[in-house]
Amino acid sequence: MATSKVQHDDKILIVGAGCFGISTAYHLLKRGFTNVTVIDRSDVLPAPDAAGTDMNKIVRTSYSDDFYSRLAHDAIAAWKKVEEWGDCYQESGVLVLGSGGTSYATQSYLNDVALGSRINLLENAESIHAVFPSDVRTGAFENYHGYLNFDGGWARAADGVSRMTAAVVALGGKVVSGKPAVGLLKQGQKVTGVRCSSGEEINADLVVIAAGSWTASSFTELNIGRECLATGQDFLCIFGQSVATIQLTEEEAANYRHCPVVLDFASGFYAFPPTDKNVFKMAIDHAGYTNYLPDDTTPEKSTSTPRTILSHGSEDGLRIPRKMVKLLRHSLSLVYPDLAKKPFACTRLCWYTDSPDGDWIIGPHPSFEGLVLATAGSGHAYKFLPVLGQLVADSVEGKLAPEIARKFALGRQYAESSYSRRSGHMDLEDLSVQELCEPKDLEAESS
Ligand SMILES: Cc1cc2nc3c(=O)[nH]c(=O)nc-3n(C[C@H](O)[C@H](O)[C@H](O)COP(=O)(O)OP(=O)(O)OC[C@H]3O[C@@H](n4cnc5c(N)ncnc54)[C@H](O)[C@@H]3O)c2cc1C
Ligand SMILES: *[C@@H]1O[C@H](CO)[C@@H](O)[C@H](O)[C@H]1NC(C)=O
Repeated sequence: MATSKVQHDDKILIVGAGCFGISTAYHLLKRGFTNVTVIDRSDVLPAPDAAGTDMNKIVRTSYSDDFYSRLAHDAIAAWKKVEEWGDCYQESGVLVLGSGGTSYATQSYLNDVALGSRINLLENAESIHAVFPSDVRTGAFENYHGYLNFDGGWARAADGVSRMTAAVVALGGKVVSGKPAVGLLKQGQKVTGVRCSSGEEINADLVVIAAGSWTASSFTELNIGRECLATGQDFLCIFGQSVATIQLTEEEAANYRHCPVVLDFASGFYAFPPTDKNVFKMAIDHAGYTNYLPDDTTPEKSTSTPRTILSHGSEDGLRIPRKMVKLLRHSLSLVYPDLAKKPFACTRLCWYTDSPDGDWIIGPHPSFEGLVLATAGSGHAYKFLPVLGQLVADSVEGKLAPEIARKFALGRQYAESSYSRRSGHMDLEDLSVQELCEPKDLEAESS
């Protein structure tokens, strides 16, 4: 529903102090909004289990959709402003691999070229090997080709969100932790605020929901988390992605520190250079796990809900399926065989909030007035942190270009093949607690 014209002194309440929420608050304040409050369910900010709270995230312009390539290009220019972002952004370069040549990799190459990125095309295994420091042993990369984009790298993810949170406070915004919203306050079809778990009611002229993977389960009345993988209707698919880390020695880390981010679009595997604390992180962006809980309003259908350290404790809440430990180890052996023999230090299921076509949801709710959604990061929103809120602020102000408004609209129709962006390997399974890894599954491989 069209939001009636907002005024700069209207009270804007943003639910969720993650990437979408905090970037939105920042850009609204920058544009002269004076009454901006962000609430978050977590007592500690950034929330330890938010998707964006992480040691590192990939920052790449390599997208098959040139809208994101160009937006990422703008984001990188912003990340480079040291006075705002310090050393959050690390330009390690991104090695994009496509074994057998995936169309995604080919299209993203063309988009990167169009942006004028500094690129080395890598047409055989030998040229791929040459990208890595000579002390690093790599896989054979047989039948692989790809390219190295020097204009990309990774960001210190949690630091980035913390910096932006501090900037919001400095601009006069209010950021309140420990306030889980549990529902909307409404007068007819007009949203007038939110209800918190304590019973407290917070009124606002406009509510922006940016609750990440908790959007569907916190606001079941919006009915957007139900039919995971149905087509032709709105839904968010909430699923866990498996991440694992390896603690390197100082000496090992020194070798791998000058590696680029490695991103294999064919297998979905990606890995970062080690952090300052010599932690190596990797993940696979292809298979996912849903976690359905019984839901008291409609017991026959429930909403996939994140299982995290806040809901399940610091040990249990981090476990990933045993099968994924094996798959990660195998994928790692194809890139860095020496590291694949080492014990895994830590694992984590990181929760994606996907729309069927991978485009975010940014815009007014079609049936409630005074309500804007800013979510469905679809596993790739972090890199846009510095600029993401501009799109939401444009939507709030009714300034979003019509074609962009349509791209991100809640209520858009999805094609049957929408999930093809994950090229058919979008295997979703419901999480089974019996199949989660135990400490012994993380031990070094005895070869
Ligand atoms: C494993 C993994 C790897 C990723 N890798 C990359 C990458 O390399 N590059 C990249 O660009 N992107 C990456 N992403 C995607 C990126 O992290 C997300 O798209 C982005 O963080 C989404 O932001 P968000 O604001 O929607 O959600 P979040 O960052 O999760 O923030 C949501 C916030 O809302 C709060 N909240 C939730 N419910 C409520 C409630 N009821 N009341 C109050 N507060 C609430 C939460 O506490 C949280 O702080 C990755 C994601 C995952 C899971
Ligand atoms: C924000 O708006 C609320 C509700 O209209 C009002 O009570 C409050 O004083 C305003 N705060 C600021 C800083 O303007």
